[in-house]
Amino acid sequence: MLKHAVNKWLVPCVFVLSAPVAFAEAPNPGELIYRQTCSACHATGALDAPKYGDSGDWTPRIKQGKDVLVQHALNGFNAMPAKGGNPALSEADVSAAVSYMITSVKNDDRVDQKDALETQKQFFRRAELGKPYVYPMNEQGYFVPPSIAELPNDKYGDEVRLGFKIFTETQKYAARYAGRGMVCSHCHLDAGRKPHAVPLWGAAGMYPGYRFSSDKNDTLEDRMADCFRNSMNGIAPAPDSPEMRALLAYANYVSKGVPIGVHMPGRSFPDVDYTGYEASPPRGREIFMKKCATCHGEDGQGAWREDGSYRYPPLWGFNSYNKGASLYKQRKLARFIRANMPLGQDFSLTEQEAWDLSSFINMHERPKNPAKGILQEVFGGGH
Ligand code: HEC
Ligand code: HEC
Ligand code: HEC
Repeated sequence: MLKHAVNKWLVPCVFVLSAPVAFAEAPNPGELIYRQTCSACHATGALDAPKYGDSGDWTPRIKQGKDVLVQHALNGFNAMPAKGGNPALSEADVSAAVSYMITSVKNDDRVDQKDALETQKQFFRRAELGKPYVYPMNEQGYFVPPSIAELPNDKYGDEVRLGFKIFTETQKYAARYAGRGMVCSHCHLDAGRKPHAVPLWGAAGMYPGYRFSSDKNDTLEDRMADCFRNSMNGIAPAPDSPEMRALLAYANYVSKGVPIGVHMPGRSFPDVDYTGYEASPPRGREIFMKKCATCHGEDGQGAWREDGSYRYPPLWGFNSYNKGASLYKQRKLARFIRANMPLGQDFSLTEQEAWDLSSFINMHERPKNPAKGILQEVFGGGH
């Protein structure tokens, strides 16, 4: 408890004092090690080393998984010397350098391997029983949800279309429950259809299910109510309210064909490893100014459209998600950012950059967790 209280007050002070001087030049640790040791061969492809940024060189190697790559880099592999010939490097150094190199090529296969493997196992088990799962999927193996345009023009179609509108224009179609500007699809991208952005089709088949945070069997309505309360900083609609019924209809519609109880590849967002380095808010700030501020604003407050809705949502402050939200957890925010941001450049950031950004964003003030009293907020930390 004391530790939390100390962190809570100390961290922002240190940050304010030291930000512009101490850390301003510090690059990502992986990048630093790459530049000092690995670039000798990997920048040019000397000795047939896989070249930085060349996806033809890296993609087949990445398929082995990051753990294998790190082992090869640590112990040496053919003409690749152990630790790149620099025995002073620690395992965390080498791992960070490998991360830095493999994220130089856009390839999201690697991050989904564990997911995909688990699903594959389930598929084989089913196949042995003569009942394989069949669902529409794209080339990467992700579920393809049916489109809104295919909906019939009847009462059911209207219900689903209303759910879609609530999901994408929450402030307009569920005004009495929405908070101060967020909408569901700000985080659940492509109207809850994009893999790795917590798609609705990854959720629908998994509820009701036990959740640690609520310590009970939650329905899909319970889960959505949580996002209303915390991610939206709004009010939870009752399970039988018209808004919740419509959202449920929409969630089930975009999940048409998903097998029940199967952890679909692309559910939630892929994990990020601990890199062996502290997350650094000042370094996060620097990356933020370069890669995020163009849309979210230097003050992180986003930008409005003429009709008063957000074109770019705020990342902290009065209108943002509150301290009870999933994204207020350092690791979850890092996972979301790496898989989805900057918008349109999925998996372009290194794990370290995602951690740095997450620590920078979540150290700003935002609405309190409505489930906690003021004293708990101060002494218990917001998490
Ligand atoms: C002296 C040149 C040289 C240096 C310095 C060097 N590498 Fe390599 N590296 C190679 C070569 C050559 C290969 C290809 C080996 C092969 O596949 O036969 C390679 C391959 C790799 C691979 C792929 C291994 C696989 O299983 O496909 C990784 C990962 C790697 N290096 C990481 C690093 C890291 C991290 C550093 C810096 C700490 C580094 N390398 C420094 C020459 C070098
Ligand atoms: C600020 C970002 C944000 C907003 C806004 C938001 N959510 Fe979420 N939502 C999340 C995160 C993060 C998770 C948890 C992902 C995890 O831990 O796997 C989540 C989880 C969910 C889940 C469960 C997903 C699963 O796979 O179990 C559902 C359903 C959901 N949200 C619906 C909604 C609805 C409906 C709205 C709008 C009323 C909404 N969310 C608004 C971030 C957000
Ligand atoms: C090209 C514009 C653009 C850039 C650059 C960009 N974002 Fe976003 N970001 C968006 C949009 C738009 C959304 C909402 C999603 C939607 O509406 O499709 C969003 C949503 C988010 C969210 C979830 C919603 C919220 O308000 O909490 C986070 C977190 C986020 N971005 C962080 C970042 C970070 C960190 C970077 C830099 C690495 C970044 N973004 C760069 C446009 C951008």
